[in-house]
Amino acid sequence: MNHNSEGSGAVTAHSRDEEGGVTELQAEEHEIVVGIVSRFPRQRTWLLPVLWQVVEELGWLNPDRIEWISEALNVPYAEIYGVASFYSLFRWEPSAGPEVHVCTDVMCTLKSGDSLYDDLTRASVDQTFTVASVTCLGRCDAAPACLVNYEPVENATIAEVLERLRTLAVEKGGEQS
Ligand code: FES
Repeated sequence: MNHNSEGSGAVTAHSRDEEGGVTELQAEEHEIVVGIVSRFPRQRTWLLPVLWQVVEELGWLNPDRIEWISEALNVPYAEIYGVASFYSLFRWEPSAGPEVHVCTDVMCTLKSGDSLYDDLTRASVDQTFTVASVTCLGRCDAAPACLVNYEPVENATIAEVLERLRTLAVEKGGEQS
C-alpha cells in the first residue's frame, strides 16, 4: 500500500481483489471519493469537510477511502489517518441502525450526560440503534448534548432521544414502503 503523498488518483494495489483486479464496487467508490475531493479546494484546511462528506455519502471511512483522499488531495496517508482517527465522530465500520453520540465530557457529565449514556446503552440492547460516548460537541450551554444520526439534541433526555429514534424508524419505514 502506498501511504505517501504521491499518486495520480488511480485505484491502488491496496484496493485490488484476489486476482489483482479492481472490483466494480471499489472502482465506483473510488470515483465517488475523487468526485467529493474535486468539490473542495485542494488545500489541507478542507480535509475535515472532505472526510465528513465521504462519511455522509459512503457511510464510513476505511483504509482504501483514506488512501484515495490522500492521492486526490496530495496529502500523506498518515496525516489524513491521524486526523480522521483523532475525531471519535468518524465511523470506521457500517452501522446497523441510527447512531447516538452522547457527550460525556465535563460539562455534560455535570448535567447527567453520563447517566444518559448509560440509560441509552441499556436501551440499545435490542440493537436497533448504536450508542457511543464522545467528547465535547461544542454545545456545553445546552448540556447534556448528544447527536442522533448527527442531528444535535440539546438538553437531551432519554425520552426525547428515544422519540427521535422512533421518528427516524417511522421515516425509514415510509421510505421503504
Ligand atoms: S461538554 Fe458536552 S457539549 Fe461540551
